[in-house]
Amino acid sequence: MNILILGSGGREHAMAWKLSRSKKPVKIFVAPGNPGTGEIAVNLPIDPLNFETVKSAVLSEAIEMVIVGPEAPLVEGIRDYFEADPALRQITVIGPNRKGAMLEGSKDFAKAFMMRHNIPTAAYESFTADRIDEAEKFLKTLKPPYVLKADGLAAGKGVLILNDYSEALCELKAMLAGRFGSAGEKVVIEEYLNGIELSVFVITDGLSYKILPEAKDYKRIGEGDRGKNTGGMGAVSPVPFATPAFMSKVEKKIIVPTVEGLKAEGMDYRGFIFFGLMNVDGEPWVIEYNARMGDPECEVVMPRIESDILDLFTAVAEHRLSEQSVVISDKTAVTVMLVSGGYPDEYKKGFPITGLETVTDSIAFHAGTRYSEGRPVTGGGRVIAVTSTGKDIGEALEKSYRNASLIHFEGVYLRRDIGYDLRIKA
Ligand code: AMP
Ligand code: GLY
Repeated sequence: MNILILGSGGREHAMAWKLSRSKKPVKIFVAPGNPGTGEIAVNLPIDPLNFETVKSAVLSEAIEMVIVGPEAPLVEGIRDYFEADPALRQITVIGPNRKGAMLEGSKDFAKAFMMRHNIPTAAYESFTADRIDEAEKFLKTLKPPYVLKADGLAAGKGVLILNDYSEALCELKAMLAGRFGSAGEKVVIEEYLNGIELSVFVITDGLSYKILPEAKDYKRIGEGDRGKNTGGMGAVSPVPFATPAFMSKVEKKIIVPTVEGLKAEGMDYRGFIFFGLMNVDGEPWVIEYNARMGDPECEVVMPRIESDILDLFTAVAEHRLSEQSVVISDKTAVTVMLVSGGYPDEYKKGFPITGLETVTDSIAFHAGTRYSEGRPVTGGGRVIAVTSTGKDIGEALEKSYRNASLIHFEGVYLRRDIGYDLRIKA
């Protein structure tokens, strides 16, 4: 089967890697991909948001299945585009339609969905610029820290958490005045949840679902979870505090009502659902939904799935996921992200990456790389995700850090404390 993965990061490299291990004959294409995916798949120089060129490639390469990595093409309606075109209609798209992707594309939509289906989430209200006085009144009823969220996609920068009331009010006004462009025309103000975060993933065919390995993401740039938010500096799976008792609450209170809610609202959601959860004293609350896999979580989730992922995707396409079983490895997977110096602020690109060929016992997933004169160079903030598995967190981390030290580019930075909090608690 010819399969096209859309995207260019570590998540897409990890998906391509997993698909390349399928027992079935597959030919994998990645658009646009990166030097890492180029080693195991055919890269196509295509922008996933240019649906016309995606269509041409799909037809000329006889693609039968398209897996959408990032959120933007989903929110822009790539599945609707395929379903509306007689030449594309029979091609499987793994990813929800535009309506389903609103779980990620609109925080106000996601919050209202959770309210309708009784899914635990922080109390909130949404406001547009014409209701600034009411927004101010609502903010006053809350205790600090104050949580402000731009409604739409804002490249991960749309959430502000502020301790000071007057600062929060000032930021709220700036958001409603257009700080995040159209993404911030509506602002969600919500209660602060105090706990530990984790990411839970399911794949669904709209009727039933399978729970995939959960993961903990390390979002801050600095060790000890200090400093600015990033796309994710590392991840660990499984998460020790996601005990069977906790996960059974997640399933009963969050996963089942979400999948049932999507079904009841006629969404025909087929793809991944990413639940960003907060564990507050042993109770799960939803912070956010995403309509895709996480990155870097995908780099630890894929290595723990033992089943053939193509069987899962095919079952999703054919609405027969309930017949499938998913075997998950009991090994621990960790990934450590090597990032460009300066990230998440400004950083330079184009530095040669050396040592990739010396990696053993780990997989170097390419996150932000490109070719220059035939050699991989840095091409983004997050550059390489070094994933390893082991019998426990310690063994997996030892491999990842040993291999990370072999990979070099100018200005390379990594967090040395990925998973340490979990080791202490484990
Ligand atoms: P999001 O962009 O929705 O993932 O939010 C970014 C980060 O803000 C989350 O990963 C949490 O760490 C934090 N956050 C969002 N909402 C809340 C909340 N209600 N309470 C506490 N932290 C939150
Ligand atoms: N690692 C968080 C995300 O993919 O949104």
